[in-house]
Amino acid sequence: MNTVHPPSASGQLPPDLDPRRLPAHVAVIMDGNGRWAEERGWPRFLGHRQGVEALNDIVRCCKDWGVAALTVYAFSTENWGRPVQEVNFLMTLFHEVLERELRNLVAEGVQLRFMGDLAPLPKTLRHFMEEAMSATAHNQAVHFNVAMNYGGRQEILHAVQAVAHRVEQGELKAAAITEQDLTEHLYTHPTPDPDLLIRSSGELRLSNFLLWQLAYTELYVADVFWPDFDRACFHKALLHYQTRKRRFGRLDLPT
Ligand code: IPE
Ligand code: IPE
Ligand code: MG
Repeated sequence: MNTVHPPSASGQLPPDLDPRRLPAHVAVIMDGNGRWAEERGWPRFLGHRQGVEALNDIVRCCKDWGVAALTVYAFSTENWGRPVQEVNFLMTLFHEVLERELRNLVAEGVQLRFMGDLAPLPKTLRHFMEEAMSATAHNQAVHFNVAMNYGGRQEILHAVQAVAHRVEQGELKAAAITEQDLTEHLYTHPTPDPDLLIRSSGELRLSNFLLWQLAYTELYVADVFWPDFDRACFHKALLHYQTRKRRFGRLDLPT
């Protein structure tokens, strides 16, 4: 096991991380908000509130440490199946946080992109999300993708329908469809596939996240609930990542 040194307070990359071997794209399944609150005898919504604070810090951490892209799972296509009060709370929270943070994100050079089927979201939230995307579209410090009403199967289906439409129009022959044709219609396009996937709260499953894009991603599961996932936890995940040998089905690549 690696010894984890406390991250530097200055926001600099911790000295035991190799800047040349950082993941360019980190994906995160932010899980465990509800259990974090329940463990304290509190209502689940307090866990969601605290989870937002953890996320805020991880976005800044990516910027400070030089991780170019961060994609987080905020609300899945299956999360509509939760009690209506929790769903409504989450929608209100997303709006509140966006309103509070947008100015900072713009100033800090964060490019914000929402990915998923945004049509079923409340109209006012959707409009605000669209505004936030255009306000940050030219920012380059870090690409921050938020998966909202996102499902990996739904995303693939959506891409297949778009490609099938091109076939119907006679633009493309079915037998000539390439992986590239399909990936161009994924919500993550043109961000390259994640190098590292982090899931908090110890669960060993993908829960319908980035099913296509995770084909060769390194997986890391943290044992803490998402609201407790701080820079030290992120540091530990990156240290683990830097010990991995990525082979992509081949033999060891020269480092
Ligand atoms: C993740 O935390 C946040 C969302 C799914 C919106 P959970 O709400 O899934 O928390 P647990 O897993 O029930 O503890
Ligand atoms: C995945 O967490 C979705 C998000 C983090 C938004 P869930 O809590 O919904 O996943 P399951 O139900 O444990 O698989
Ligand atoms: Mg959960």
